[in-house]
Order: sequence, then structure tokens, then C-alpha cells
Amino acid sequence: MTGASSIRSFPPKGSISARDLVKTFNRGSTRALDHLDFGAAPGEMTAVTGPSGSGKSTLLYALAGLIDLESGSVSVSGETPRTHAEWTRMRQRHIGLIFQDDWLLPTLTCAQNVELPMIGLEHNQKRRRERVDELLKRVNASDLADRTPAGLSGGERQRVAIARSLANRPEILLADEPTGELDSGNSQIVMDLLTTLSTREKMTIVIVTHDPRVARACGRHFVLCDGKGTYSDLSSETEAS
Ligand SMILES: Nc1ncnc2c1ncn2[C@@H]1O[C@H](COP(=O)(O)OP(=O)(O)OP(=O)(O)O)[C@@H](O)[C@H]1O
Ligand SMILES: [Mg+2]
Repeated sequence: MTGASSIRSFPPKGSISARDLVKTFNRGSTRALDHLDFGAAPGEMTAVTGPSGSGKSTLLYALAGLIDLESGSVSVSGETPRTHAEWTRMRQRHIGLIFQDDWLLPTLTCAQNVELPMIGLEHNQKRRRERVDELLKRVNASDLADRTPAGLSGGERQRVAIARSLANRPEILLADEPTGELDSGNSQIVMDLLTTLSTREKMTIVIVTHDPRVARACGRHFVLCDGKGTYSDLSSETEAS
């Protein structure tokens, strides 16, 4: 039994592996990803850093299957989705996304925005509503439940977007500057939440950030420059410096 289950569970649920990713724009003159390899294991928190334009957002889009690549492949939990339909299903069930722009729907309340990804996955409305309440509470946004995004500050919108990204109970969270708009108190709340999700629930978390405090909260550090990446261990960097 142990033999069979260990074969079934490899590669582990929540692992990401990206090989030799190439993505160009402007008829090939901009190499956003230049033969880039990336990997993360369940429960790892990886900070992706690098100058503006180095390819960080493009990498997240590639890991979520949201862009067509010139070459390379992305595997999630050992599966390699090929079609748009396979990627859509993968995102719905296994991946949480926080974009640089929050993409909250303006006509829905914040609670409805958070509830949206659960529709189709959780059929019990009462359980959906309870989870919405719990998620908004976890990002310190309970008071925003009945408001629409239009009148909210950038930081308030960002916290609602973070709650929404967790709605489908993802094994993998891909976050582009999730604390970029937050004050230090709310940034700490969000980072504590993400750290708890990674350690207790073994969520795999990839965070693009310019904030050294956020990067320090992550166990691993992936530095991008001109579409190429280097993976390093933050603790050894700290020891070395
Ligand atoms: N849709 C697009 N069309 C044309 N060029 C693009 C497109 N998306 C990204 N690029 C280019 O690809 C490169 C990488 O962009 P990307 O958005 O990944 O950078 P980034 O590291 O996320 O930057 P930032 O820190 O400013 O968010 C940049 O030179 C950018 O101009
Ligand atoms: Mg970006």
C-alpha cells in the first residue's frame, strides 16, 4: 500500500515545475522570459524579485497558464496542462491568483467578488457565505463585505482580492505585489496569513515583490534579470552578508 501511494503522490500535490520558458514580445525584440527554469515544492514560499521589466509578472502569468509561450512547459502537481480548457480547470481547482491589478468586478459587492470563484465548486450557499466571512475576516476586511469596489482605497481593494484568491482553497498561490498598496499593519496581517497557509496547509506560494520585508518572510528567493532567473536561499545570503 505504501509503495502504491508513494508512486501516486509523486510529484507532490502543489509542486510547480517550469522548464526552459521562453516568452517574447514586440516581434521577438523583448525577451520577457529567456530559457527560464523555475521550481517550487509544497509549503515553500518563494519571493520573486528583480528590476521593473525583468519578467516577474510574465513568469507568474506563465505559471498560471495565462500566456502562450514560444517554448517550454509548466507542470503543476505533475500535470502539464496543454490546452486553454485544461489550464482553466487547473486554475479553478488548484491555483489562487493575485494580480498587479486587482480585477475586482465593479458591479458586485466585495463579498460577492470573493464568493465568485466558489460557485461551481461549493454548491451549498450557506457554506459559501461562511467561507466568504472567514476569508474577509482573515484579511481584516469584514467591514467591506457589502460595499462595491469602486469607492475603496487601493489597499482595501487589494485585501479583498487576496481573500478572493483563497476562495477555491488553492494548493498554489501566485501573487504579484500582494502588499504593494498596503500600509505596514495590513501588510503584516497579509504576510502572517500567507506564512500560516504555507506552514500549516503546505500551500505553495510565489510572491513577486519589491518589498525587502516581504522577501525576508519567504524561505527562498528567485532573482530575475532580463528574463533569466537565479534561485537562492535567503538564509545563506543573510549569513554571507
Ligand atoms: N503584453 C505585452 N506587450 C508587450 N510587451 C510586454 C507585454 N507584457 C510584458 N511586456 C514586456 O516584457 C518585459 C517584462 O515585463 P513584466 O511585466 O514581466 O515585468 P515585471 O518584472 O513584472 O515589471 P514590474 O516590476 O514593472 O511589474 C518588459 O520589457 C515589458 O515591457
Ligand atoms: Mg510586474
